[in-house]
Amino acid sequence: MHFAARTERIRTSHIREILKIAADPAIISFAGGLPNPAMFPVAEIAQAAADVFQGAGQSALQYANSEGLPALREWISERYHKIHGLEIPVDEILITSGSQQALDLLGKVLIDRGHPVIVEEPAYLGALQAFAMYEPRFHHIKLEADGVDVDALERLPIVADAPGAANALRPAPLFYSTPDFQNPAGVTCSAEKRRRLAKLADRLTIIEDNPYGELVYDEAERPPLLRSLDDRVILLGSFSKIVSPGIRVGWVCAKRPLYDRLVIARQAADLHTSGLTQMMIARYLADNDLDLHIRRLREAYRANRDCMLDALGEFFPDGAIETQRPGGGMFFVVPFDARRIFGGALSSGAARKRALCSGHTAFYLDNDSAGDRYMRLNFSNADPEKLRAGVQRLARAWKNSVRRSADHSTRVPTSGEIL
Ligand SMILES: Cc1ncc(COP(=O)(O)O)c(C=O)c1O
Repeated sequence: MHFAARTERIRTSHIREILKIAADPAIISFAGGLPNPAMFPVAEIAQAAADVFQGAGQSALQYANSEGLPALREWISERYHKIHGLEIPVDEILITSGSQQALDLLGKVLIDRGHPVIVEEPAYLGALQAFAMYEPRFHHIKLEADGVDVDALERLPIVADAPGAANALRPAPLFYSTPDFQNPAGVTCSAEKRRRLAKLADRLTIIEDNPYGELVYDEAERPPLLRSLDDRVILLGSFSKIVSPGIRVGWVCAKRPLYDRLVIARQAADLHTSGLTQMMIARYLADNDLDLHIRRLREAYRANRDCMLDALGEFFPDGAIETQRPGGGMFFVVPFDARRIFGGALSSGAARKRALCSGHTAFYLDNDSAGDRYMRLNFSNADPEKLRAGVQRLARAWKNSVRRSADHSTRVPTSGEIL
């Protein structure tokens, strides 16, 4: 069978592979990016669904418009105003099937083959996958503890020599960023760097992906959204991490004429996001206190984060693993030479898929852009007891590997021996 050349460049979906492995109940997974299902508002969503069928069953089952349910778009616009003081007109909000679809649509509309796309290193691999379909030329800019290395970004020749908005002869490079509690690194971009990034909106088309912004665990002054510093910034949001990912409702905020192009692209893709689920979530939001729900999520995930950091400190020897404390979100990374530590195990079985699921533990090595130099740990999808047990297994694997390298053993361990 003939396959389009663009699919040659697509890696298997690590995300899907991880989700498959993580489904095994014997595994304590730090691998995926799953919210904790114990926190899902199941009864409230069930009530919302019953109310939708009761009151508007026929329209819920009918085709819907491509832009999205007006009530939901109004809710999103009001929330930006309430939380960030941002004015985003309802007709600049397009509901998508998760923010993942927004990434794909942006790729479709903005990326020609060879178009420069600048991403953080490391970056959310779902975005890399979505953009790769459109055959861009990727550029990586290192992520530092306070956000992307803006000096390096400004020095990049395609940025330094970019003509500026007034001269539209050459299309602006795309810059994709997750400034709040980045996936995978957990890093938050400083206010100072955000101001410098927003200034680059003259020369770059900036995409701000913000699915974790409401999952804040430490009291600190929140830096502004890039979108509030320059209204050309394309802003993505999602209900996945604050309500439910299974509902598949996200959104993109974009100005015209980009907005209109996105609508056309989405019509070709799927006509519209499910009207039924949009109505369910709109009903849920109208009848429940989302702020209260988010407060509960914050408490639970903050406890998880602290538990994992404590366990890393307890089970790994001093200085073996450097950790940073993410102020929110669901992940952090530990700098970790996984290839050295896990050696041949990485090329065996499930490990080949970048998930090491040995014994009972799987964790993800997010090495798409930075090699095996660090390991991403997810702390949302397990209770504290399991998090501790998982870190203990991880530490055991680490100690075994150190012992193995001390023995100069070249034998490749089997996965069962590792944990
Ligand atoms: C940074 C980032 N963007 C987008 C997504 C996609 O989320 P969804 O399509 O569920 O809204 C994720 C999911 O983990 C993510 O981490």
